[in-house]
Amino acid sequence: MLRTVVCVSGGGTNLQAIIDAVKSGDITNTELVGVISNNYGVKSLERAEKAGIPNFVVCPKDYEVRDDFHKAFMDKLSELKPDLIVLAGFLVRIPEEMVSTYPGKIINIHPSLIPSFCGKGFYGLKVHEKALERGVKITGATVHFVNEGMDEGPIISQKAVEVKEGDTPEALQKRVMEEAEWILLPKAIDDIANGRVHMEGSRAVRKV
Ligand code: GAR
Repeated sequence: MLRTVVCVSGGGTNLQAIIDAVKSGDITNTELVGVISNNYGVKSLERAEKAGIPNFVVCPKDYEVRDDFHKAFMDKLSELKPDLIVLAGFLVRIPEEMVSTYPGKIINIHPSLIPSFCGKGFYGLKVHEKALERGVKITGATVHFVNEGMDEGPIISQKAVEVKEGDTPEALQKRVMEEAEWILLPKAIDDIANGRVHMEGSRAVRKV
């Protein structure tokens, strides 16, 4: 069983998609051993609680300096002994040492077709605002392994989603979630848990 920890910041619809997929058997060989939020009182924590998954808050505001937050966050991860860490709408920068401590074991979902609309300042609804501002006709979502760069790690999977005339950022976000994110992320976890994909250097390698 792949011991999987999910890191979240807010609503947790991606977390819910993962929980549902484990329950329905769409994700196999996977145990959700913990959910870590950087915010108190978010819906993600309720979702974890309802599913009986141990859930924790490690909040930067509780620490005077960033290094102390990073240490507390790394300590919590280490307690949970993860084989896989899923950043499912985790909207704070992860500690640098996390990547070297868990090489090839961290994945992230991003709500655009990387390398478009990613990197510093592109998160959550902002990504869709920028996509609409630029007038792209196609957007989508990407699941990738996490490396030292921001949204630069090896791409595991992507799915395109149409932008429609008159879309608001909220409407586009909803379509990208429904048509791409909630499908791609559980599938990537199942693929990793069953040895169908892994990270090798700068590539995500898929078994054929
Ligand atoms: C999702 O759209 C996810 O792709 C995005 O935040 C949202 C979280 O929603 N992540 C990023 O922008 C990461 N750069 P959720 O809490 O309902 O899953």
